Amino acid sequence: MVSDPRSLTVLGIESSCDETAAAVVRDGREVLSSVIVSQVEAHAVYGGVVPEIAGRSHLEAIGPTVERALAEAGLTEDELSGLAVTTRPGLVGSLLVGASYAKGLAYSRGLPLVGVHHIEAHVYAAAMDLDEPPWPCLALVVSGGHTALYRADSPLSLTLLAATLDDAAGEAFDKVAWMLGTSYPGGPSISRLAAAGDPSAIRFPRHRPKQGGVGFSFSGLKTAVLYHLRGGDALAPTPAPEDIPARADVAASFEQAVVDSLVDNTLRAAEAEGLERILVAGGVAANARLRLELCQRAAESNQRAFFPPPEHCTDNAVMIAGLGHHLLAADRLAGLELDVRPN
Ligand code: KG4
Ligand code: ZN
Repeated sequence: MVSDPRSLTVLGIESSCDETAAAVVRDGREVLSSVIVSQVEAHAVYGGVVPEIAGRSHLEAIGPTVERALAEAGLTEDELSGLAVTTRPGLVGSLLVGASYAKGLAYSRGLPLVGVHHIEAHVYAAAMDLDEPPWPCLALVVSGGHTALYRADSPLSLTLLAATLDDAAGEAFDKVAWMLGTSYPGGPSISRLAAAGDPSAIRFPRHRPKQGGVGFSFSGLKTAVLYHLRGGDALAPTPAPEDIPARADVAASFEQAVVDSLVDNTLRAAEAEGLERILVAGGVAANARLRLELCQRAAESNQRAFFPPPEHCTDNAVMIAGLGHHLLAADRLAGLELDVRPN
């Protein structure tokens, strides 16, 4: 049993994908430190995350990252109430680095340990700064690996309503960035290019779920961008980025198609579930057009959308320590048999 659930200082560790992160959070809200070591440069030449490079990079970074998070919080391991580590979903080799490190630390210091679900933690990031608890609410999780809608009745109870049939929205940004020759990760670089373009220049397709239901699919959109670049001829070669005419219009029209699909489905799902509050989480939640359009259109239908600050949209350990607080307080402790689940 955790000593006093009202005052918990939790060290969170995140290593599910391509960021090694550690953070210390008090009482699930007060951020004492947050350190993120990004591997973006190591993966950029490949246009996406290479699992083997990710695992090796985590192994190098994990010790110094945790030490820095503790030093910046001005605490030693013995002043912590517990440890929280991402155990699912993610790349198996990457998850194992964080989980093994956390187990070693928990064992050597006699600290309670909890395993955190990465998606639940992303949703928690959108809720942790709010003055009032938002539950029950709708949650849109939109990242490089996930695009899904959940009903969230509490920080620890999410029910899946719909998920993408194929690519995640962030993955589509990354792939289209590769085609247009902008840098990895694709979200921010496409948005920068799109700022100079006309979002209505090209009418790219939007996936329509059957019978007015909710759902996502981004693979057809990605193919439509490719065919557009080939001048409508599927067999033609893809032009080099510098030879693409009106590149900014392509970026802006693609971004608009993604945003329209996310906004339409999210508002429809919120209405169908009778929910007025919407939390948006994951890397793509940093997208300025999505933030603006979802907030505006939600307000028109008496709904409200909440986004985490941009630094808490992409992977971080604040969200892991924050949700870890609730798991510790609920006494949902893991033993040293704690395992990772990639899917
Ligand atoms: O949540 P995250 O850091 O990692 C995963 O769990 O996947 O999300 C990374 C994804 C990448 O695909 C990246 O292109 C996308 O989030 N992303 C964005 C923006 N910033 C990051 N997509 C659109 N607009 C952005 N500003
Ligand atoms: Zn993530």
